Amino acid sequence: MYKIAGTGSYLPSKTLTNDDLSKFVETSDSWIQERTGIKQRHFVENELTSDLACKAAENALKDAGITAEQLDLIIVATTTPDYTFPSTAVIVQDKLGAVNAASFDVQAVCSGFVYGLSVAEGYFATKKAKHALVIGAESLSKLLDFEDRTTCVLFGDGAGAVVLSEKDDETSGLISTKISSMGQFVDLLKTTGGPGLTQSAGFITMQGQEVFRHAVSNLKKVCLDMLAENNLEKSDIDLLIPHQANKRIIDSTAKSLSLKPEQVVVTVDQHANTSAASIPLALDWANKQGKIKKGDTLLLEAFGAGFTFGGALIKW
Ligand SMILES: CC(C)(COP(=O)(O)OP(=O)(O)OC[C@H]1O[C@@H](n2cnc3c(N)ncnc32)[C@H](O)[C@@H]1OP(=O)(O)O)[C@@H](O)C(=O)NCCC(=O)NCCS
Repeated sequence: MYKIAGTGSYLPSKTLTNDDLSKFVETSDSWIQERTGIKQRHFVENELTSDLACKAAENALKDAGITAEQLDLIIVATTTPDYTFPSTAVIVQDKLGAVNAASFDVQAVCSGFVYGLSVAEGYFATKKAKHALVIGAESLSKLLDFEDRTTCVLFGDGAGAVVLSEKDDETSGLISTKISSMGQFVDLLKTTGGPGLTQSAGFITMQGQEVFRHAVSNLKKVCLDMLAENNLEKSDIDLLIPHQANKRIIDSTAKSLSLKPEQVVVTVDQHANTSAASIPLALDWANKQGKIKKGDTLLLEAFGAGFTFGGALIKW
């Protein structure tokens, strides 16, 4: 089986509280906390997405006890790449010295990390990789319009990474992944530009209530479908590691799965929504806090622009 051999994460040092934001946007700590659960976020200053990705990757490689040269595959899930091209993954490959890896980016916005895991799963299943690095890394602050209070308070920057390795152990590892998309909802959450449309990245624009509604219903469905497809019950889940967009969305999914609060990893209060980075950041946080025990069944889930959504089941 292929298992998570190591986790790592990295957050830029600059933090902004809700009160800090309220100095230049018409908002308040109480509004943001009540609607989203967010208390603060990290923003990059002089770092690029590839810098965040590399630092998270170095931590994950150290945790896994393997060298960069042993990697066969590097997947970076990001919607805020350093360049339009080449990929952030090849920059990470070079910075790490991972000379034997094939490297590419996955663009599935907030679902990018579970999409990346799903692609890596295919590489392992077809015996094309023994060690893979899957990173979620974002500098969302670069896509924020600080005159739009409905979006600029929601996002943050950071990176998380996992090393997946083939192991002679049938008792633990990646049980399965599931990814889906519904392209008919592009307009509900997108950027105002892009290389083709405006020759610039644009800003995030969102119809928040509609996104909220779709997130809640699709996350419930994908989680229940994954359990059914793998002959598992709700009671088999030990820990939910959700995409960290909004505490109310997380609570809704946890309720659908009949989970207790202590079975749900929540970092949205500290990190805000870091898009593709949010799940590996939360996973690394839970791992380093000792919240994950050997033999635990973990359910990861994500929903993002596209719409894209999906999940992963892992036996730790
Ligand atoms: C964005 C979100 C928090 C807004 O919460 P909401 O309860 O839907 O709030 P609304 O958009 O209805 O706005 C309510 C009021 O708050 C105001 N408001 C919006 N943003 C505000 C802010 N940052 N501070 C203060 N007031 C704000 C609105 O202008 C509106 O005022 P009005 O009633 O006078 O018109 C919520 O819709 C949400 O979480 N959506 C999902 C977002 C998400 O997770 N996206 C990523 C998916 S990966």
